[in-house]
Amino acid sequence: MNSVTIGGLNISGNVVLSPMAGVSHITYRGICRELGAAYAPTELVSARSIRYNGLEKSMQYLRIDPEREKITAIQLFGADPEDFTAAIGKIMEDPVLSKVDIIDINMGCPVPKVVKTGAGSALMNEPEAAAAIVRASKKALEGLGKKVPVTVKTRIGYNASDAGRPDFAKAVADAGCDMLCVHGRTRPQMYAGLCDRKAIALMREAVRGYDIPFFANGDVTDGPSAASLMADTGADGVMIGRAARGNPWIFASVTAFLEGRELPAEPSEQERKEMLIRELEGRCRYCDEDIAVREFRSVMPFYVKGIRGAAKLKVRLMSALTCEEIKEILEI
Ligand SMILES: Cc1cc2nc3c(=O)[nH]c(=O)nc-3n(C[C@H](O)[C@H](O)[C@H](O)COP(=O)(O)O)c2cc1C
Repeated sequence: MNSVTIGGLNISGNVVLSPMAGVSHITYRGICRELGAAYAPTELVSARSIRYNGLEKSMQYLRIDPEREKITAIQLFGADPEDFTAAIGKIMEDPVLSKVDIIDINMGCPVPKVVKTGAGSALMNEPEAAAAIVRASKKALEGLGKKVPVTVKTRIGYNASDAGRPDFAKAVADAGCDMLCVHGRTRPQMYAGLCDRKAIALMREAVRGYDIPFFANGDVTDGPSAASLMADTGADGVMIGRAARGNPWIFASVTAFLEGRELPAEPSEQERKEMLIRELEGRCRYCDEDIAVREFRSVMPFYVKGIRGAAKLKVRLMSALTCEEIKEILEI
């Protein structure tokens, strides 16, 4: 089993679910862990909102299940170091959230709403501000007597012309970040175009002397693409985003490939439908059924992708309002 150590924390496996807003629900994260993800962070949560509105308002995104997930990670975004200090303070006052194993900081989000506040990928323009956030987060945790590693997830640049930002990687490593993950696209690329592995490798080399694990991210769809991304960038592991939507089995398959084991059988149509229902029912435990069904609309199509009659199924699933209706549509 490949393993990595993040700030003293031993992690079995090196294939991680990439945080995704609307996808990384607590239920789905537990399923990914069960099927071989080394860990599965929450989606991005605003440090400022936690600071000023308290935990309750963000709880639907922050929620973790230390028993099931084993290794838990909360991803925060923001621009002001004091927001992180305050947010971490509140997280550590909560009986469950205080058990979190990793605090991850989003320094890659390209969405204008986030960037215009100076957070997400905008931090790539301000390596000193990014470093200050890492330092403040580490200090807040240490001050509370918590040995919780602080990790950073970023991109290869803010501008279209950027081809890697080794200076940025060094700045956050110097500030004490315990793991760095780089998505091989610039901010304006969002999720389009090809991942630039050379640019990731440049950032990997920049932090080689820091003795922290480095993860690469972008376009992993199976074992061979994970192995070649690691080989081309010198990364210790990969994060998988879009290809994991409606496909938690990808973790078992990629992990088996990387470890040279026989690949598990592909899930059958029936198994995929049953997993869809399992995730949906899990989601219903945390909010009203109609809300869960509506929120799940962005994920359901991925579960039925490629199965017989998928196009018609998707249309019907999109207008369903209850779990019962969805079961009927899937004939489960
Ligand atoms: C719907 C969606 C939501 C995302 N939300 C987040 C997020 O909350 N935090 C984050 O760091 N990245 C987020 N990302 C980026 C992914 O984590 C990942 O970096 C990106 O999709 C590239 O990896 P992939 O090629 O494996 O998908 C999101 C991506 C998508 C498609």
